[in-house]
Amino acid sequence: MGTAPTVNYELVVRGGTIVTPERLIRADLAVADGTVCAIGTSLAHADKEIDATGRYILPGVVDAHVHFREPGMAYKEDFGTGSRAAAVGGVTTVFDMPNTVPPVATLDIFEHKLDTVAGKSHVDFGLYGMLGQDNADEIPKLAGAGAIGLKLFMGQTTGDNPCPDDGAIYRGLRAAEESGLVVGVHAENNPLLQQLAKELRAQGRTDVRAHLESRPPLVEVEAVTRIATLAGAVGTTLHIHHLSTRDGLERVKMLRALGHRLTVEALVGHLLLDDSAYDEFANLVKLNPPVRPAEHGAALWAGISSGDVDIVATDHAPHSGEEQAEPNVWCAHGGWIGVETSLPLMLTQVAQGRLTINDVVRLCAANPARIWGIDDRKGHLDVGADADFVIVDPAAPGVVTGAHLHSKHPVTPYEGWETTGSVEATYLRGELIAEHGEIVGPPRGRHLAPRDRKPTTLGGPL
Ligand code: DOR
Ligand code: ZN
Repeated sequence: MGTAPTVNYELVVRGGTIVTPERLIRADLAVADGTVCAIGTSLAHADKEIDATGRYILPGVVDAHVHFREPGMAYKEDFGTGSRAAAVGGVTTVFDMPNTVPPVATLDIFEHKLDTVAGKSHVDFGLYGMLGQDNADEIPKLAGAGAIGLKLFMGQTTGDNPCPDDGAIYRGLRAAEESGLVVGVHAENNPLLQQLAKELRAQGRTDVRAHLESRPPLVEVEAVTRIATLAGAVGTTLHIHHLSTRDGLERVKMLRALGHRLTVEALVGHLLLDDSAYDEFANLVKLNPPVRPAEHGAALWAGISSGDVDIVATDHAPHSGEEQAEPNVWCAHGGWIGVETSLPLMLTQVAQGRLTINDVVRLCAANPARIWGIDDRKGHLDVGADADFVIVDPAAPGVVTGAHLHSKHPVTPYEGWETTGSVEATYLRGELIAEHGEIVGPPRGRHLAPRDRKPTTLGGPL
């Protein structure tokens, strides 16, 4: 007679509903060595048991677009505060942007950034390198050091880093392709937006709508078309960050029909706010690319339904109170915080019937993990994956309250918004890192590099 194998689970979560992009699975989930080791019913008893009856168990959110500002701008945010906000909000992996000081354009700077932030993060993190004017030779080294991908700023934004010309872009795209790195693009045509801004300034305009007028849809459409053309010629894996216009999304569909492969990100802010927010918040909701009239947000929502939008991210972009209160729009800093509020706000959209809980998992966890090549560990809860999960009460009411948020400057345009669906607890590799709005334990986040890349199946035809 055989004996039952001895199972040694560290943790079992019982009675919850595990959410995948396709399914809802009523099952228990067991953790050993920080990974999911079993999913099923009647799993053996563990020392630590969690009752998740009536709750969803989601894979931890993978936010592919945050600015935690270290090194160089820690007065705005740092990895400690930013990652606390992430953990409390159900985000277990973040990818941090390279427009820090100095910008992450070389191996030395990348290593310095990694040294600076290591040990401070409550969530796992990837670090982008920059695709700049003159750093193509550094790109293989950035890949070797574990950069999660590259960021290309085609249009001016925080940090005022020079936007590379097309020759430099082409060279950088080639180096990225050879190094197996995804290139994510801030797709705005810089000379065009500068020209329009100059004309508006000459008219004496300093209001927030002048910023919107300086970045019309053409600015985005031209940049999307150009970068898809260049990346398509080279074969680089291309991602468009914060696509913001109906026209830009139409162009993406045309490019895909022509055979281009590219993935598309929409921001929570572009989905939930329209230009009426300028009347209430003025420069607090200055954003590059801007918050736009409602028809553009509607197009992004339609893109979510049709599958043309691949991921949702936050562009968590903290600034000091003075920088945000600056009355002249050309001097105000663009962006605002969002990493802590994104999941409750998306859950609220689920409660309102605008998308499903499966869509949230697809857009906010599974797809970003696939695009950047960390889906061997992240973005899902299959056996073998990291036990990064969030316990969510889908019916719990909440109110966004800046005073309860964990960022350094917790000012949010969602202040007072009522939410349905709350993050009860967040686990990173099987350890509780946040519960009921508060952080638990010391920073345990680790640096994440992409695995050896294989082509993503996302983004349209090959
Ligand atoms: O408004 C923005 N702020 N857009 C960006 O692309 C960058 C971000 C920041 O770093 O502040
Ligand atoms: Zn950004």
